[in-house]
Amino acid sequence: MRIVLVGPPGAGKGTQAAFLAKNLSIPHISTGDLFRANISQGTDLGKQARAFMDAGRLVPDEVTIAMAKDRMAQSDAENGFLLDGFPRNVGQAVALDEMLLGEGVKLDAVLDLEVPEDEVVKRIAGRRICRNDSSHVFHVTYNAPKTEGVCDVCGGELYQRDDDTEETVRTRLEVYHTQTEPIIDHYRSQGLVVTISALGKVTEVTDRAMEALKKSD
Ligand code: AP5
Ligand code: ZN
Repeated sequence: MRIVLVGPPGAGKGTQAAFLAKNLSIPHISTGDLFRANISQGTDLGKQARAFMDAGRLVPDEVTIAMAKDRMAQSDAENGFLLDGFPRNVGQAVALDEMLLGEGVKLDAVLDLEVPEDEVVKRIAGRRICRNDSSHVFHVTYNAPKTEGVCDVCGGELYQRDDDTEETVRTRLEVYHTQTEPIIDHYRSQGLVVTISALGKVTEVTDRAMEALKKSD
């Protein structure tokens, strides 16, 4: 399956993507994770992305689209993928449409995670991520690790993302409303959008998402 996951910052895209990608045996491709990996490795790409991310703004399309194309061209994405955080504006959505058209394939669904803004703010404020693997995501109260500050999965150190400050979250939400939400209409016109509530337990949201994806197949 070829799926795009969309939703505001902190909606639980990364958390759900880890389970959905496993259930569907497709790679989870997160542009946010790719940028963060480049930053921690000190690459040129990471240096270009850092200031935009710290400010909560989008990294320029030129850089982002090239990185996403490169990742998707890797063989494990051939039979499907779960895109998390890409596309994030209409320009990127059009670039993805062209990319897929060129390969003679189509998206199967755009899964839209709906969460009220006050919940998103609480989720982001308590989020902790593993230094070894950014798919190991915790929350200080909703999904607390057994030992404070230590990843349950691999024992790595948990940290708070640089862009998870109150001010940056406000900017990220504004960017989401003005630049990312219009892609939902773009995909609605292609009949691809499936909206689900992302409230409730992580497992409940995964079940809801799997059910909705089955119906859209
Ligand atoms: P990115 O990394 O994509 O961040 P985001 O979209 O802001 O999304 P988040 O990672 O904040 O949240 P999430 O929805 O994955 O939630 P999570 O599962 O962690 O992008 C970061 C930056 O990179 C951007 O601002 C931009 O600068 C740049 N960038 C990335 N892609 C780009 C692109 N295409 N173009 C240009 N720039 C780009 O969950 C949040 C918390 O809630 C966790 O603590 C989790 O444990 C908890 N939680 C999850 N589910 C539940 C639940 N059901 N109940 C209770 N708690 C829950
Ligand atoms: Zn870990």
